[in-house]
Amino acid sequence: MSGRIPRDFIDELLVRVDIVDLIDSHVPLKQTGNNFVARCPFHVEKTPSFSVNRNKQFFHCFGCGVSGNAISFLMEFNHLDFVEAVEDLAGFVGIEVRREASEYQSGAKKEDLTSLYLLMEQVAIFYVEQLRTSDAGKVAIEYLKNRGVSSACAGGFMLGYAPDDWKALAARFNPKLLLEAGLLVNKENGQAYDRFRGRVMFPIRDKRARIVGFGGRVLDNSLPKYLNSPETSLFHKGKEVYGLYELLEKNAKPQRILIVEGYMDVIALAQFGIHYAVAALGTAASQAHLDLLFRFSSELIFCFDGDKAGREAAWRAMEPAFSSLKDGRQIQIMLLPQDYDPDSLVRKEGVEGFIHRVQTAETLSEYFFGQISSQLNLSQMEGRAQLINKAKPYLEKLPESVFKEMMFSRLKELSGWGDLDVLQNTATLAAKQNAGQSEKRSQDKGRLSSARMAIALLVQNPRLAELLEQREIDWNSLEFPGAALFKNIVQMIAQNNPANPAILMECYRYSMEENTIKALAFLDTQVPNDKIDVVFCDALNSLLTQHRELSLARLLDKDKTQGLDAQEKQLLRKMLIAK
Ligand code: UTP
Ligand code: MN
Repeated sequence: MSGRIPRDFIDELLVRVDIVDLIDSHVPLKQTGNNFVARCPFHVEKTPSFSVNRNKQFFHCFGCGVSGNAISFLMEFNHLDFVEAVEDLAGFVGIEVRREASEYQSGAKKEDLTSLYLLMEQVAIFYVEQLRTSDAGKVAIEYLKNRGVSSACAGGFMLGYAPDDWKALAARFNPKLLLEAGLLVNKENGQAYDRFRGRVMFPIRDKRARIVGFGGRVLDNSLPKYLNSPETSLFHKGKEVYGLYELLEKNAKPQRILIVEGYMDVIALAQFGIHYAVAALGTAASQAHLDLLFRFSSELIFCFDGDKAGREAAWRAMEPAFSSLKDGRQIQIMLLPQDYDPDSLVRKEGVEGFIHRVQTAETLSEYFFGQISSQLNLSQMEGRAQLINKAKPYLEKLPESVFKEMMFSRLKELSGWGDLDVLQNTATLAAKQNAGQSEKRSQDKGRLSSARMAIALLVQNPRLAELLEQREIDWNSLEFPGAALFKNIVQMIAQNNPANPAILMECYRYSMEENTIKALAFLDTQVPNDKIDVVFCDALNSLLTQHRELSLARLLDKDKTQGLDAQEKQLLRKMLIAK
């Protein structure tokens, strides 16, 4: 892997880019006042609620709530991960991505990967030629035909044949690269031989069409049935899925993606016109797999074979499934009848039958509670207690969302113990404890509280942190509602000195505060530009007052209950005089 991208490079990138130009080149924008607007590219709408602000270098959709800086836009719009988005953004701005490794090292590494990708492509072409032209290839073609794979479909997936030869590749390609690509196996005596021999070959592409690995199946019943590429610098089993590139080629925004178990399942479904299936590569679907797939579709359907192994795999999938279920994402579970996999079932039932199963797949909540309760006797207290103990750890994994609350309600219903505090989502409990405060806030007739105003202005204008420094107050010791977030932001600004909100947001990417910062960045404070400093200072003053009142109340209370020591008494006297 190449070196890390340094933080200051990302800052520089975000200073150089103009988010309005960037987004305008993907989605034409219209100016209205301070903002540029368009119909949101991330949800379907008739009137534009997608807004881009040049000063903040931020976009926000008032319809679906998506928001972020230029990097976030590319990640969302082009389904990229963070590093890919930074690379593309650098390309847009016209600068080279800087990496932490030394020039020499990173240059060399990049070269290696390019030649590895090239080699993989050449080897895949070689395997295709072997399938199409060699005598042994004819046997493989016969095998594929027997399994009902059409020639067009084999071509679409670039299926090939690895000759039954220990040195087919070694004789044709650079052995050092072959070894690095995982295509040769090193023997102890230092000699190397071809990993894949006498097998139908399935090239595995990443979403950018590059071949990163291979799977190979024997033509008979010998074992192991499938061999896969080992982990290499190109290939990480836990991160890649089979068929994603081919799926995206057909449809870049599929309504749903089906996750099946085998290579041949993906191919058979595609041949029947179901182009939205992918397979995890002989491993259980990981959270990385799910996060990857959720970039392309908000609906995933797990499809498991109807055998015991399939049922067990379905249950094991619950862990990554729960962890990845943010609001707006959906997971369904489809268990096939005993002794069938998607390949054999679609051939037996036909495409309509199969699609009907897809459409009537169980929701995650049905499947989950169904599975858990089927093993327990819920008419007994013991059974219901077990239900709670089993279900709660899974529910806790869900990101905070409406769905999470609903799952907790369902658990309460099923256990008949709605009142138990252990059955509360911990986040809900915390929210309840804060409820007093927030009620007070909402009585403020829609006006922003001082804390919220100060925090929002600070996020939108990080330069205001200087005003804090000018006042000789130890902001860290202050207490008021929202103080923790305020201090956190002040500290972040002091450490990173962000030039605009887009860069500040970058400091918070993947942190607990990320969404809060995004929301604050686009909060309408209704403060005109020339009043920002004044309003900010007013808000600070009022926070200072709140802090004094809070401390005073606390001292008076302590005076009444436990009594004060000499120092506290002096402090109290001072405060009362100042009042
Ligand atoms: P299956 O045995 O269910 O695969 O294994 P399949 O696609 O249905 O196989 P056939 O060709 O129709 O008989 C599911 C997946 O598990 C991995 C492969 O990725 C396979 O597609 N696997 C299976 C292995 O990696 N090695 C094996 O020996 C078997
Ligand atoms: Mn099969």
